[in-house]
Amino acid sequence: MFFSRRATQAEYFDSPDRSLAETAESYKSLERINRLFHFAEPFQRFLPPLLGAENCRAVTLLDLGAGDGSLGQALQVWAAKKGWSWEITNLDLSPHAPELCKTGKLVSGSVLDLPFADESFDVVIANQMTHHLSSDEEVAKHFREAHRVARRVVLLSDMHRSAILYGIIWAVLHAGNFPKHFRDDGLLSVKRGFCSEDWRQIADRAGLSEAKVWTHFGARVMLAAQKIPKPQAPPGASPI
Ligand SMILES: C[S@@+](CC[C@H](N)C(=O)[O-])C[C@H]1O[C@@H](n2cnc3c(N)ncnc32)[C@H](O)[C@@H]1O
Repeated sequence: MFFSRRATQAEYFDSPDRSLAETAESYKSLERINRLFHFAEPFQRFLPPLLGAENCRAVTLLDLGAGDGSLGQALQVWAAKKGWSWEITNLDLSPHAPELCKTGKLVSGSVLDLPFADESFDVVIANQMTHHLSSDEEVAKHFREAHRVARRVVLLSDMHRSAILYGIIWAVLHAGNFPKHFRDDGLLSVKRGFCSEDWRQIADRAGLSEAKVWTHFGARVMLAAQKIPKPQAPPGASPI
């Protein structure tokens, strides 16, 4: 069946020889779509209960495959309105991301081999990034790496591979006069997306069997994992 398996065709987004101007145009188009689909909403909805009220006040957050850093920026502004201080680190593989990142720090790197020590961030998130990975093995590695560098919470979100979402995205992309490459990639990204059973199986394989996986309003696949942080040794304490 059409949506029973993930598409393997690569997105133009990931082509290594894209210019800075093309990448900038794609992030701009993505921002229009993201605004329409309230891309920050699942993170605003689920992060506070996953973290617990006390731990929301000061948060270090890593956004994987952050693109131009729009999501981190939106979350930081939203958190500030609640009196919380959220420090954002963005990570992306695109050579143009450092130049295009709007706010916060951008680290160049791959989600498959994160250049951070274990438990470096309170929260690790990713939005619409996982479908860029080509195999279940890579997705499992990405889940493990996200979990390794998180101290408290991992929250991942991506496209739900469904005919209904494909139809909605088709209509929005055609009505909105988006560039052809972006339209093609947008539709392909639904076909490269996931259903919740995919993520359940991959999470189990990655050793994240405690993680919860679900679909959010039929449009997104979500994964949440909570960790209990290890107590930090007081400064100057010698290891036992
Ligand atoms: C569709 S964009 C999503 C950007 C942003 N998360 C958002 O929601 O607007 C996917 C991003 O993932 C990045 N990406 C793809 N594969 C990656 C990898 N292996 N490691 C890090 N970033 C990657 C791309 O460069 C791109 O910026």
